[in-house]
Amino acid sequence: MSAEVKFEPLSFDDVKSRLAGPEDKASPRTLVVFAGPELAFGAATKALLAGAADQIARAAAYAKFTGKSGSALEILVPAGLPGASRLLLLGTAAAASDGAQAEKPKTPDTKTPDTKTFDDFLTLGGQTMGKIGAGANALVLFDPPQAPADAGAAAGQFALGAVLRAYKFDQYKTKKKKDDAEREGASEIAFGVANVEAARSALAEAEGLAESVLLARTLVNEPANVLTPYEFARRAKELSALGVEVEVFDEQALADIGMRALLGVGQGSEQESLVVVLRWNGGAAGAQPLAFVGKGVVFDSGGISIKPGASMEDMKGDMAGAAAVVGLMRALASRKAKANVIGVLGLVENMPDAKAQRPGDIVKSLSGQTIEIINTDAEGRLVLADALWYVKEKYKPVFMIDLATLTGAILVALGQEYAGLFSNNDELAERLTKAGEATGEKLWRMPMGPAYDKMVDSRFADMKNTGGRHAGSITAAQFLQRFVDKTPWAHLDIAGTGMSSPAGDINQSWGSGWGVRLLDRLVRDFYEG
Ligand code: BES
Ligand code: MN
Ligand code: ZN
Repeated sequence: MSAEVKFEPLSFDDVKSRLAGPEDKASPRTLVVFAGPELAFGAATKALLAGAADQIARAAAYAKFTGKSGSALEILVPAGLPGASRLLLLGTAAAASDGAQAEKPKTPDTKTPDTKTFDDFLTLGGQTMGKIGAGANALVLFDPPQAPADAGAAAGQFALGAVLRAYKFDQYKTKKKKDDAEREGASEIAFGVANVEAARSALAEAEGLAESVLLARTLVNEPANVLTPYEFARRAKELSALGVEVEVFDEQALADIGMRALLGVGQGSEQESLVVVLRWNGGAAGAQPLAFVGKGVVFDSGGISIKPGASMEDMKGDMAGAAAVVGLMRALASRKAKANVIGVLGLVENMPDAKAQRPGDIVKSLSGQTIEIINTDAEGRLVLADALWYVKEKYKPVFMIDLATLTGAILVALGQEYAGLFSNNDELAERLTKAGEATGEKLWRMPMGPAYDKMVDSRFADMKNTGGRHAGSITAAQFLQRFVDKTPWAHLDIAGTGMSSPAGDINQSWGSGWGVRLLDRLVRDFYEG
């Protein structure tokens, strides 16, 4: 992993004096400032750019730069700024509305003044990093034209977006482009802020969260010959340095407990199946925990119901749910969240083999319910069934949320914009939806009900592991619901959002680390203190 970013908070006065002197010729400096509607600047920015005002106005007019969010203007050798060779103006004029739900139809050619205050500093940080380029010597003057409600929090979001944007998974490339080689190592961004102390703590928190998202991304990106269940567990154990308790159950232990649905999935693999339990005890002693369960199929060949060859390599990412749970636990520990939280990872490899499980097999799950295997490629629900039942029985949690790259059908329904949300509890579903809106990791609630539940009844066992061609994501969720009893539960199907991600402002990586920010936010906003 390369392109690490470090922020050094500075006062506006320090920014001014750095820019007054000549810059280091070997490492020309980029100065980044923010422009609002009609080229509005913050007061400190305006004062600093006084000598370049005319140049900026002419360049902006020529380039038709008006400060629209998402747009940028580059000016080389800005006047009156001996300390910077390049000036970058980033637009922060909020788009009128970009909500998912109904918006007023826009009448073309009528200019309605933009009154909505810009608040997406996460995206702005990503856009800025994209324009600066990793490894550049940059000074960011964080002085938005419309003062944010909470400047410290805004600075933290900005830094988070920048670090997430800079992440690159390239450790297996032995011949790096010269460009990339130069970008190795940490790039330092001098970060001019109104309140250095507030920024310092916000930056520290942002860094903890960023590292946690990047940990999840790296796990998703790793190939399955490296990231075996054992290696996954080893990396999860590293969280013990942050005060997370980590317990690993091997196949013998899982057999003793009775997790035969989970074990059946790994039966055809040379790699041992493992379950990892992570515990963060930041809440009151004895307070009921929150629980998160991740599907960790390190590779999903489909098993005996083998998948077609096209894109099978993507199935190294079939552990994105477990990766998100590890990332979340790391995030909570790094900010010492005031909650008791359990994370459970079901780590298996789904392979065809003489010993592999077959269609027609019947397995007895930990719950005692029996499952007829119709398709060995519907393996994720088998892993989760035992993990959910185990958590429910052992920890009696406030809620259980599972994350899983569970069905291709969720991609058909929602694409890569929203993850599917299934729940037996309206309050939990609403809170998750709100956390999704706040973080941009969006959820769309899907229906459940008895008619769908019937679709997984089996002729020979209590249930079967597929529900036929229709409503594939929903019948998968119905299957899971049979293992949660009355516990408030939500299932997030992240097959569309966790991997194969499109490049965007805050992510250029195949594995997105989706869910870490969402669930950190859920815990912070609704379950602490
Ligand atoms: N891991 C896959 C789902 C998946 C598909 C994740 C595409 C990411 C991208 C899952 O184990 C699977 O194979 N599901 C089957 C279920 C079917 C056999 C009932 C599917 O979606 O086709
Ligand atoms: Mn599968
Ligand atoms: Zn799978």
